[in-house]
Amino acid sequence: MIKLTGLKKAFGAKIITNGLDLEVNDGEFLAVIGRSGEGKSVLLKQIIGLLTPDEGSIEFNGKELTTLGEQERDEIFGMCGYVFQFAALLDSITVFENIGIGLLEDGIPEKEVRPIVAEKIQCVGLAEDVIDKYPSELSGGMKKRVGLARTLMRSPSTILYDEPTTGLDPISVRRIHELMHKTHKETNATTIVISHDVEIFNYADHVAMLYGGKVVYKGPSKNIWECDNEFVHQFIRGLPEGPIKHTL
Ligand SMILES: Nc1ncnc2c1ncn2[C@@H]1O[C@H](COP(=O)(O)OP(=O)(O)OP(=O)(O)O)[C@@H](O)[C@H]1O
Ligand SMILES: [Mg+2]
Repeated sequence: MIKLTGLKKAFGAKIITNGLDLEVNDGEFLAVIGRSGEGKSVLLKQIIGLLTPDEGSIEFNGKELTTLGEQERDEIFGMCGYVFQFAALLDSITVFENIGIGLLEDGIPEKEVRPIVAEKIQCVGLAEDVIDKYPSELSGGMKKRVGLARTLMRSPSTILYDEPTTGLDPISVRRIHELMHKTHKETNATTIVISHDVEIFNYADHVAMLYGGKVVYKGPSKNIWECDNEFVHQFIRGLPEGPIKHTL
């Protein structure tokens, strides 16, 4: 279980996370929504320790992350998979090397890594021949799949996706959603997905909405269109009027 309590994070005078509370149960599939710039990526980065909160607590399977030593933190980090907002592949190496990088760096011979990578490529629905291509030869959707394949290499018990469908065409969006759903069913990994795509509500168990640095709503996604929370009501319909102030 992931339990965030009173989390605060500022960059200079700019407060991004402002006393945020959130609980995510084991095996839960949670969609996180909120305006652009609201601090969604900053939130995920705090959960996996890429950013340190200024205040508050992050409990991960009963362990307090903010006070852990580096080694214990690395162990927890090892259980988390993070699929970056922009796939974050290394352009100068092949798909094989991008996905297998962890094992290759540990000195495992290429011929042993190759079948493992090939299996992951198949898992994420990519064609076999993608393995020797460079990221520049792939479409946006394919890159996102490679990003997920790399994450799956470590069999994480928690997978965090940062906007996995942004910039994709509607059919690719649907396929990425189905892929996340399939991955969730197969691994039962606790899954947190940041998304601007309302289709995610068909796949997630719960929705959490971020506003003003806090979680202003968390509830089941099933009846989200009937949700009477005024923030959610305004946000998912993209209404100009309501409690959410829009500044561009
Ligand atoms: N390392 C950093 N240093 C300074 N400011 C940062 C840093 N990371 C993020 N910010 C700021 O924190 C705010 C929240 O950023 P974040 O990337 O979490 O937004 P987001 O909700 O993920 O938005 P989007 O939907 O556009 O991805 C932004 O104003 C951003 O400029
Ligand atoms: Mg973001």
